[in-house]
Amino acid sequence: MKIPDPLIERLRRSQRVAVLTGAGVSAESGVPTFRDAQTGLWARYDPAELASPEAFRANPTLVWQWYAYRRSLVEAAAPNPGHLALADLERRIADFTLITQNVDDLHRRAGSRNVVELHGNLFRYRCFDDDTPVELVTVPQDAPPRCARCGGLVRPDVVWFGEWLPPQAWRTAVAAAERCDLFLCIGTSGVVRPAADLPLIARSAGAYTVEINIAPGALDGQLDLHLYAPAGQLLPAMMSAAFGDAA
Ligand code: APR
Repeated sequence: MKIPDPLIERLRRSQRVAVLTGAGVSAESGVPTFRDAQTGLWARYDPAELASPEAFRANPTLVWQWYAYRRSLVEAAAPNPGHLALADLERRIADFTLITQNVDDLHRRAGSRNVVELHGNLFRYRCFDDDTPVELVTVPQDAPPRCARCGGLVRPDVVWFGEWLPPQAWRTAVAAAERCDLFLCIGTSGVVRPAADLPLIARSAGAYTVEINIAPGALDGQLDLHLYAPAGQLLPAMMSAAFGDAA
């Protein structure tokens, strides 16, 4: 797979790199992307109908079971070469920020350290009523447990439709996009704001911006370079081209 020279040169030269990933970077780990057709028991539900405070209020057991199902998918998955390539890149760049919309924890499991989770994490929990973090020693599969402090229902610590992003995570992501000289946008449909604004913020601040996806989407034509190939193949090829086979 030929990696364009402008990208290779910038990878070798950049000291401030920011990356935004979406569900596509986990696709080759066998984790369905957010907008993949839901399968099996969950085929009849639209994720947007489940991932909302209203859905949880209306049917906490159903929403809890859906997240238990998604956790089971992720626990059975492993980081793929794309995740590992990004962990390798982080080790080579002085100022590196990995911003992810994914809640699957696979970047951390791949060895990435400076991970900004815009949409939370499937394996963290908080109280639906008082919003404080909740540590679960065991995680029930069938129904949400109760908060030991206030008795409220425990929810996954993920951002639901209609909710704000964690303010600190968003500020960190914007600051990284504004100061980087290379921005990689990988495996995201680019349809959910404000995350999808980050590559455009980076570009308007002067960064060289690259999209890696399997097909053109909402960002097509808006960035400096668009590469269409599976991230699990392209990212290792990119690392080898830029840093040699020691990568
Ligand atoms: N390599 C690279 N890109 C891929 C691959 C792959 N192997 N497989 C799929 N893709 C791309 C798809 O072409 C699509 O553009 O990944 C993207 C997945 O898009 P979505 O399913 O919309 O996931 P994402 O962009 O992460 O969604 C953003 O929206 O629904 C909310 O909170 C949810 O975090 C999610 C956010």
